[in-house]
Amino acid sequence: MFKNSIIRLFELKGRNAIVTGGSKGIGYQIAIDLANKGANVFVWSRNKEQNEKAVKSLPLIHKDQKHIGILCDLSKTNKLEESINEIKKQISLFNNDNIDNKIGILVHSAGITHSELLFKKSSNNNDNNYHSINDNGNEIITTNLLSPILITQSFLKDMMRLQYGRIIFIGSVVSEMGNKGQTIYSSSKGGLNGFSKSLSKEIGQFNCTSNVISPGFIDTDMSKPFINNEQLINSIPLKRIGNTKDISKTVLFLIESDYITGQNIRVDGGLY
Ligand SMILES: NC(=O)c1ccc[n+]([C@@H]2O[C@H](COP(=O)([O-])OP(=O)(O)OC[C@H]3O[C@@H](n4cnc5c(N)ncnc54)[C@H](OP(=O)(O)O)[C@@H]3O)[C@@H](O)[C@H]2O)c1
Repeated sequence: MFKNSIIRLFELKGRNAIVTGGSKGIGYQIAIDLANKGANVFVWSRNKEQNEKAVKSLPLIHKDQKHIGILCDLSKTNKLEESINEIKKQISLFNNDNIDNKIGILVHSAGITHSELLFKKSSNNNDNNYHSINDNGNEIITTNLLSPILITQSFLKDMMRLQYGRIIFIGSVVSEMGNKGQTIYSSSKGGLNGFSKSLSKEIGQFNCTSNVISPGFIDTDMSKPFINNEQLINSIPLKRIGNTKDISKTVLFLIESDYITGQNIRVDGGLY
């Protein structure tokens, strides 16, 4: 009994995880929970101070465990390579009885939103420009969809060689439900649903899984404008705004699950 609980405590010992957006909100809770299971965690975000604070606060439950901060702006794809190489280099320096020297767990939690009605959205203030969405739109698509795709691609071969991979995208319930003012945001999250589903079919034979978790309203800085809205809370069957633990529990469940892939799991209190 005691031995079993020790094994469960260390069940991710030697596993290396990246959590984008791991410095705050949902991603931070995920980083804490992974660290509490013994994983080495790379916390990826932009703000240096916030990142350092998060990394320092993560639990260290065994002597070989390490957590490392990665400062990189996901809205700038030309910056990704440097950070990806840095992560690979850092892992190769880990000196322990690691079961791997590669990334096995990749959680994409970083994300941004801007509320803007599409018919009011002019392309960089030029109503006659039909070739591009405006800067906010570009930033959302690059941060929420394009960079997660590129980062995933860069670690795939390592996971396939390792014969272990758990890729989890934090999507959003609005990708299926829709929401006024969020055409571009919901497109970015819907893109993740399609990407993850197809990816799951490519990597399954290597014991790698890919899933999306689609939160409803979760109590973080991102959802601050909504969380005290009584009408909204009443529209949720479980009658409360979700918390970051509601999402991180599902992340741990998917990491533990060997036979779930290609799924989009809504964690929204029944909202949709
Ligand atoms: N909260 C909700 O109600 C809700 C609902 C549905 C889906 N989601 C999704 O859940 C995910 C996490 O949201 P959250 O509520 O935890 O948000 P949050 O509290 O605002 O945290 C966002 C995290 O992402 C990082 N980040 C943002 N832009 C980045 C960029 N360009 N490059 C690198 N890192 C960046 C932030 O750090 P820096 O600012 O320092 O970079 C921070 O660590 C997002 O993908 C969001 O779309 C949230």
